[in-house]
Amino acid sequence: GTADIGVTGLAVMGSNIARNFARHGYTVAVHNRSAGKTDALLDEHGRDGDFVRTETIEEFAAALRSPRRALVMVQAGAPTDAVIDALAEAFDEGDIIIDGGNSLYTDTIRREKAMADRGIRFIGAGISGGEEGALEGPSIMPGGPASSYEVVGPMLEDISAKVDGTACCTHIGEDGSGHFVKMVHNGIEYSDMQLIGEAYHLLRGVAGIEPAAMAEVFREWNTGELDSYLIEITAEVLAQVDAETGYPLVDVIVDRAGQKGTGRWTVKSALDLGVPVTGIAEAVFARALSSSVPQREAGRALPSGAVSTPSGTGPEFIEDVRRALYASKVIAYAQGFDQITAATAEYGWDVARGDLATIWRGGCIIRATFLDRIREAYAENADLPTLLAAPYFAEALADCVDSWRRVVTTAVTAGIPAPGFSAALAYYDGLRTERLPAALIQGQRDFFGAHTYLRTDREGSFHTQWSGDRTEVRA
Ligand code: 6PG
Repeated sequence: GTADIGVTGLAVMGSNIARNFARHGYTVAVHNRSAGKTDALLDEHGRDGDFVRTETIEEFAAALRSPRRALVMVQAGAPTDAVIDALAEAFDEGDIIIDGGNSLYTDTIRREKAMADRGIRFIGAGISGGEEGALEGPSIMPGGPASSYEVVGPMLEDISAKVDGTACCTHIGEDGSGHFVKMVHNGIEYSDMQLIGEAYHLLRGVAGIEPAAMAEVFREWNTGELDSYLIEITAEVLAQVDAETGYPLVDVIVDRAGQKGTGRWTVKSALDLGVPVTGIAEAVFARALSSSVPQREAGRALPSGAVSTPSGTGPEFIEDVRRALYASKVIAYAQGFDQITAATAEYGWDVARGDLATIWRGGCIIRATFLDRIREAYAENADLPTLLAAPYFAEALADCVDSWRRVVTTAVTAGIPAPGFSAALAYYDGLRTERLPAALIQGQRDFFGAHTYLRTDREGSFHTQWSGDRTEVRA
């Protein structure tokens, strides 16, 4: 065969990545379970570059030059397993399969092992950026053996987004690490979106700013430290007027947020790793609450109690909300990076956190100017115990904290739910607190279950004989 790369699975992401490769001068073998999509791609975009049309997996394998490189862009789960198995049958030792879907990282770990046993090299690559990113340059997070990355990395870097001439693609680490960091990326994406949603809710509910005017507020925010893709598209969505009713589009969209699972996976993994990703968890649960139809119907009758809104809802309030949003966002990223740190230890990966901040600056959904600050923080100190310890972020939070408290207070007194803002603030206060009530919890645990406790003043584990004379013994 002559094709440099193959793409199987030609839904919109797969088609656009295939076109991206072709536009970069690669000969691309294309394959889809039903040839209709292959033909549609070639009819509409065949002139983007050199494509090789194939119908069967055998033809697809035959079209590729050695060592074969195939990118799988099919639905996560069973469909991905089926395609990988079929490819492995048709491929030879040393050929490379890249799974570019939103696969669960534990599946990737399993598949990488199974393929390695068969002599096939396997890369699990998280790809972010939606349809446009796939075509114009996504952010790519490939995990797998370094020796395999060497073979496909240059091509992936070639088609990825670039920021300041740096590719938004780098080798993440072993086996499932690429899909793991993509998963956390999506968790952070959920959190970013939730926080923006809360800012919108407060600006509208408290300050009475209508969507069209609020689009201007977000455009303004997008020129400062909040500069990011999600803030930019928020302004676009808020400015959109429904052609049929003449209302703001946001007012005719049903207020139930969907989810395909990556946010939920992030939180499940965080629970297992014992990492408090409260910002991400609140974002996932807020989507679930929005979709809890019977509960919301029943809940509408619940009394609000004595709600009140503050009198000062002018520019100062808008600035307070902006700061609360920024501070909460910093927390969400700090938590997500902690989860990646914990996974790195748990799975024996070697993920450079500064590299992640670097490749998330462009192409992906959470791309933001602020990621440059994270990159710098890890460049200064690769072993940061938390992002909040970096001088830049510590100062930024110190700048924001008064506003943040006022906004959370306002949300509470106005009866507007702000789980993201308040969970982030509680996390911040939790880390700040000298003595946590966890000491009392340890006492309770020791009382009912003899679970023992440590002492502040001596080494060793201790137990108080609660049901006896209440003297303390060494455990
Ligand atoms: C991306 C996105 C993309 C998608 C997710 C989240 O990085 O390009 O994260 O992967 O938006 O599937 O989708 P849900 O909101 O439906 O879970």
